[in-house]
Amino acid sequence: MTRFNLEDRFLHGGDYNPDQWLDYPEILQKDLELMDKAQANTFSLGIFAWSTLEPEEGVFHFEWLDKIMDDIYAHGGNVILATPSGARPSWMSKKYPEVLRTNASREKNLHGGRHNHCFSSPVYREKIAIINKKLVERYGNHPALLMWHISNEYSGDCHCDYCQENFRHWLKKKYQTLEELNEAWWGPFWSHTITDWTEIESPSPLGETMVHGLNLDWNRFVTDQTIDFFEHEIKDIRRLTPTIPVTTNFMADTYDLIPFQSLDYGKFSKHVDVVSWDCYPAWHNDWESVADLASKVGFINDQYRSFKQQPFLIMESTPSGVNWHDVNKTKRPGMHLLSSMQFIAHGSDSNLYFQWRKSRGSSEKFHGAVVDHDNDEQNRVFKDVVQVGQALEKIKEIKGSYKRAKVAIIYDSDNNWALGDAQGFSNASKQYSQTLQKHYRYFWNQDIAVEVITKEQDLANYELVIAPMMYLISEATMKKWQDYVANGGHLVSTYITGYVNEHDLTYINGWPRPLQELFGIKVTETDSLYPKDQNSLHFENHEYVVQDYCSLFEVIDSEVLATYGADFYQGQAAVTKNKVGKGTAYFIGARTEAAFLEMFYGELTRQYGLENQWVVQGDSDVSVQARDFEEKSYYFVMNFSQEKKEIQVSEESQDLLTNETVLPTISLAPYEVKVLSPIRLK
Ligand code: GAL
Repeated sequence: MTRFNLEDRFLHGGDYNPDQWLDYPEILQKDLELMDKAQANTFSLGIFAWSTLEPEEGVFHFEWLDKIMDDIYAHGGNVILATPSGARPSWMSKKYPEVLRTNASREKNLHGGRHNHCFSSPVYREKIAIINKKLVERYGNHPALLMWHISNEYSGDCHCDYCQENFRHWLKKKYQTLEELNEAWWGPFWSHTITDWTEIESPSPLGETMVHGLNLDWNRFVTDQTIDFFEHEIKDIRRLTPTIPVTTNFMADTYDLIPFQSLDYGKFSKHVDVVSWDCYPAWHNDWESVADLASKVGFINDQYRSFKQQPFLIMESTPSGVNWHDVNKTKRPGMHLLSSMQFIAHGSDSNLYFQWRKSRGSSEKFHGAVVDHDNDEQNRVFKDVVQVGQALEKIKEIKGSYKRAKVAIIYDSDNNWALGDAQGFSNASKQYSQTLQKHYRYFWNQDIAVEVITKEQDLANYELVIAPMMYLISEATMKKWQDYVANGGHLVSTYITGYVNEHDLTYINGWPRPLQELFGIKVTETDSLYPKDQNSLHFENHEYVVQDYCSLFEVIDSEVLATYGADFYQGQAAVTKNKVGKGTAYFIGARTEAAFLEMFYGELTRQYGLENQWVVQGDSDVSVQARDFEEKSYYFVMNFSQEKKEIQVSEESQDLLTNETVLPTISLAPYEVKVLSPIRLK
């Protein structure tokens, strides 16, 4: 049992950079006072502190960190201690330029920024191993140490000679022979046959970007190389502190709040003990409703919960605005509590912030923080944080609970990369991630729990699995889908599925057989529509607008649920249903408007008993998410709108935040959240 599991409270606090304030002892003193007032209990230390920890090569200064760790502990707090590899001291870049990254154009970066290091550099690996060992030897038994925060937001790639060598080595291991590699990369195309391993170079705007097999392998290599670096970082940590959990902070794709595009986090998540992530939605923006954005945040939370099927952590969020959106709007009253509770509702066991205190200089001096430049607890943001601290204390019995969902959506990184690369279809409107989020939206609106899983995860527990746009699909995945449906599962797939295999090579001899058998159709063509084009689906006397993509297919042995309304394929099958074994396989041939998905999934959820039984009358701006212990359930009821809302639930409940008893009809003020526990279960 790790210390984290033994903690009986939610983590509340965040990134703390005392190393920026060592010349201001009164500030460090004030921090301790304010930490108590903010009900903050956990701080991530040392994330970018390498130049303070090792100001000269081989000269280490830990006294300041000793004191901060001791002080935080004396105030009842925990520390998530970081390894400092996210940024390096300037002496290191100067003496060993190899530690810096080389970009795809083969230019060596200068010292500066952060996350600007080569994952292969032997010197960087040696230097990080030394400092990490010193940290674990010194603090491994410190009573405040709760968890290891390895590096910071690993991302990016390096194209230096070391990385090229490692890439070639990785390819040799994978393909064994150049014949195999040339087959996978379709070598003769444009005379690209490789005749010696040393000819292989990573993708570059100066050289190769059109060999899709190479691009896909490079993306996979970058994930593996990043994980390899992570594993290198934690060698001594694992050996010396086997019971202290290890994490690294994942991201989402910034503004869009779609899954992070450049690393396969599903793979990475197997190497961490707890998944944690940094979440920065642009609340109250002018292009989408708060509920639209909240559902995307919900999607990513569900993905991070589902990777390990256990509670995850919010490692960073902001108590107000950030500094890097185009417009950095502060949260409206109520939004901070609501957005914080949303994390918890989806399975987070923390709400941690970037940052504890605003820095005085450099680019993040105006980034939202718990403590502003006024150095005071009287401002609105600090009070909002206190409110969250109090709320987390009131609901602390929920920590560690977990609810499995009966519906899963598959997100696949390989597919995302390959489809992104594919030149064809409608290049500008592929929108794989956004499509998944549109399908998810129905379930979010209906308060039906969803897990967002990888293609490798087990499907057996799900009643319904949704796998849109699986352009890249291996025969193994097809077999898995067949087995799932044969054993009683219900599967939904869509247009642009089943084009290429795991090497990004197209299937030949028609649409893959296993998919033909599963869906009872044979896709023959995909029509791509211009943005102003439209077609329609005719389904049970209703017409639904379709855009972007229409698959044309022969029906082999499948029930036709909808037909196309126009064009040369008017009247042909557009949506089908095929019963196979004990289950059903649905195929949606076109990109539809949301109204179609609502109707379609409405039917399926009714048919398969997936509706949220607790919510009698919901509202699409009010999200309800549950967390469970075996004997007890908790419902987070969250109003993501500026309007007052009412929803009706099936039983009288108690609000853990206010202790009020709530009748089956629940009234919510704008942006209000209630955390309810049904009274019967108490
Ligand atoms: C994160 C990063 C933090 C901080 C934050 C600002 O990506 O890990 O160090 O820069 O963004 O929003």
